[in-house]
Amino acid sequence: MRKSENGISVFPKEYDSMNANARELAADFDIEKLTPDFYADPYPTYRALREHQPVKLMPNGSWFLARYDDLVAAYKNTRLFSSDKKKEFSPKYGASLLYEHHTTSLVFNDPPVHTRVRRLIMGALSPRAIAEMEPDLIALVDRLLGTIAAKGGADLIEDFAAAIPIEVIGNLLDVPREERGPLRGWSLAILGALEPVISAEAFARGNRAVNDFLGYLQILVERRRIRPGNPERDVLTRLIQGEGGGERLTEKELLHNCIFLLNAGHETTTNLIGNGLVALSEHPAEKKRLIENPALIKTTVEEILRFESSNQLGNRMTTERIELGGVTMAAGTPVTLCIGAANRDPAQFSDPENLDIGRAPNRHLAFGTGAHQCAGMALARLEGAIAISRFLARFPSYALKGAPIRGGRARFRGFLSVPCRV
Ligand code: HEM
Repeated sequence: MRKSENGISVFPKEYDSMNANARELAADFDIEKLTPDFYADPYPTYRALREHQPVKLMPNGSWFLARYDDLVAAYKNTRLFSSDKKKEFSPKYGASLLYEHHTTSLVFNDPPVHTRVRRLIMGALSPRAIAEMEPDLIALVDRLLGTIAAKGGADLIEDFAAAIPIEVIGNLLDVPREERGPLRGWSLAILGALEPVISAEAFARGNRAVNDFLGYLQILVERRRIRPGNPERDVLTRLIQGEGGGERLTEKELLHNCIFLLNAGHETTTNLIGNGLVALSEHPAEKKRLIENPALIKTTVEEILRFESSNQLGNRMTTERIELGGVTMAAGTPVTLCIGAANRDPAQFSDPENLDIGRAPNRHLAFGTGAHQCAGMALARLEGAIAISRFLARFPSYALKGAPIRGGRARFRGFLSVPCRV
């Protein structure tokens, strides 16, 4: 009998067959042919990849990285690992609005364009600006909780997790409340088009969403030019006016980066809140621990980000011939950085398959790292902490009603619907 790494005793036969399965899982893995089992629970595959093929060549010629250290190396070197997607997205999107949108947003650009746009956006997401949002955020969360209490139950996604970021981002750009209705649908359609493989229908939906979003933003920007808001609080006014040094966005950069901001802060944060409430419900001892020690909310949010990262995949393109993880990658090769796998790498995290809400240190990669590290992470953390802690304080014995419905995406991991009793 041997001990496995989580301390469970296994017989050699069973162990060998687990190993053979893992080897097979790793060998069969193809980012363009994902199975329903993978969507339900990708972690056995990620583990198999880390153990057997941590730097794996995909049938489509791209590389898939699963180890923490390899991801950090790629994220930290913007010269060798480019974020510019013009070449990569050209065959996928052709000359479409989706192409124009994704190749103009800052996350898919390299310095110097990236540096200039990021400086403007970071200025608008300063710690002071974010701290000022806290009272409104608490009031919003409490309002939603009041409605849920009155109903005696809710869909955790529609009635809570998704309702928070849409309001926060809407406030950030000062989108009139009565005009926020279509934002979530546009966002889901545009981000959905980033999945490894998309149908003709998803492509058409994504393009329609960019078109409608641009049309709406042109009106919003025009109104804001005529009547500017307070640049200290209103990100759109700040992006229109630019920085003191004369740094400004072009019209195209302005519109596409507004779409990007509205999208970036939206589904990811919805998933942080939804994944958190589901994970706590599935780990009652950790839930109880948090209820008894509310001060653990900060480490809880970090652990949820690590354990069920809302953004599971990142992408880069090699600019030169590169040696990484024992393999040589040719210049101009797409590389997928698997955040979901790196965040459960036992070389970085002890007992990584376990949810431990007090975990410290917890240097997860849920927000990436390096030059492109998430510009909205302070805001996402604040939203996650307020939403989850207040939900738990109000409804300590909430329980899921039936199985939650997954979003069915590989890149953005979360739920579409989570019926719940409170
Ligand atoms: C739990 C919530 C969130 C997660 C997991 C998340 C994750 C990420 C990740 C992994 C990246 C890096 C992409 C890369 O390097 O390829 C990123 C970038 C970014 N995120 Fe977030 N994000 C979240 C919330 C937000 C929010 C609330 C905002 C804005 C209000 C935001 C704005 C951005 C921006 C502007 C970038 C691009 C930064 C750059 O390229 O320099 N994110 N995010």
